[in-house]
Amino acid sequence: MKALLCKQFGEPDTLDIEEVASTPPLGGEVRIRVRACGVNFADGLMVKGLYQVKPPFPFSPGTEVAGDVLAVGEGVTHVQPGQRVMSLFNWGGMAEEVNAPAMLTLPIPDTMPYINAAALSVAYGTAHIALAHRGQLQAGETLLVLGAAGGTGLAAVEIGKVMGSTVIACASTPEKLALTQQYGADYTINYTTENIRDRIKAITNGRGVNVVYDPVGGSLTEACLRSLAWEGRLLVIGFTSGTIPQIPANLPLVKNCSVVGVYFGAYAIHQPEILMDSLRTLTTWYIEDQIKVPVTQTFPLAEASQAINALHNRQATGKVVVEI
Ligand SMILES: NC(=O)c1ccc[n+]([C@@H]2O[C@H](COP(=O)([O-])OP(=O)(O)OC[C@H]3O[C@@H](n4cnc5c(N)ncnc54)[C@H](OP(=O)(O)O)[C@@H]3O)[C@@H](O)[C@H]2O)c1
Repeated sequence: MKALLCKQFGEPDTLDIEEVASTPPLGGEVRIRVRACGVNFADGLMVKGLYQVKPPFPFSPGTEVAGDVLAVGEGVTHVQPGQRVMSLFNWGGMAEEVNAPAMLTLPIPDTMPYINAAALSVAYGTAHIALAHRGQLQAGETLLVLGAAGGTGLAAVEIGKVMGSTVIACASTPEKLALTQQYGADYTINYTTENIRDRIKAITNGRGVNVVYDPVGGSLTEACLRSLAWEGRLLVIGFTSGTIPQIPANLPLVKNCSVVGVYFGAYAIHQPEILMDSLRTLTTWYIEDQIKVPVTQTFPLAEASQAINALHNRQATGKVVVEI
């Protein structure tokens, strides 16, 4: 089988496609013929050696796939060979086949294309657990999303609308902001040309926002923290700006607000039932047409490094998927 391989940390362009052996699933695993692999910002960080997870070499990037079950290991009964499934794991998805943990493998409905199923787990799972579980977003509250045209940003916009909030989408270009409006954003702010604090004040009549979804970091984090309403929540998702912000501890004190960390992947270890409940809810919302899970661009496996680069070059919008 073919696999995209990272043999040493470096730029995505250094990845090679090679033939590797197909290995049968161990107990508790499912062997999947991968049809689509979602691309995430973390894939590029992992290849560059900048991510918290550092796999042994050689490894294939890719943490979420959809495909067909080829075989199941001992003890696996909830999926069978031939079934269409989606799954997630720490790495290995950008390959023709992968052994996935059965515990994190879920059948997908017949009407759900592989590319949308492969786009759902990480971006939407993170946004859903962040907003519903960690952020306790309530209907009628105001949600502000940074990097709102990106993978997990657009997921937060869609999920924020399903949960009944007013959504303020923030991004760097008019085109990206227009995309967020297509998926439900009520207000938009261009944080490269507008003063984000002034605009939040004007949109919320001075009250501030209840929840901030922050995958960007840098100076925007403190600006948003200062724009939180009473008992607001700042959800720390990631740092695509390249700068991990330092938060002055007096701000949460005087504003009675919370800074809440979110690490989606760690739910697989600590509370997998929360993660799987979330994916089941999201799949139902997709079937009910409540969320669209837009895939804006697909790449063949041979061009997967370009797909990873598109995210790191700030060119991608929505979800990018590698078809295999
Ligand atoms: N905590 C978790 O469990 C978890 C789960 C999933 C993702 N994440 C993190 O969330 C972040 C976003 O992931 P993603 O897969 O949604 O990425 P993505 O699709 O590439 O979106 C990231 C967005 O960040 C913005 N951005 C601002 N400065 C940037 C820069 N210098 N380079 C690139 N993008 C920049 C871009 O929007 P503008 O151009 O509009 O600014 C872009 O749309 C990453 O840091 C990722 O690691 C965390």
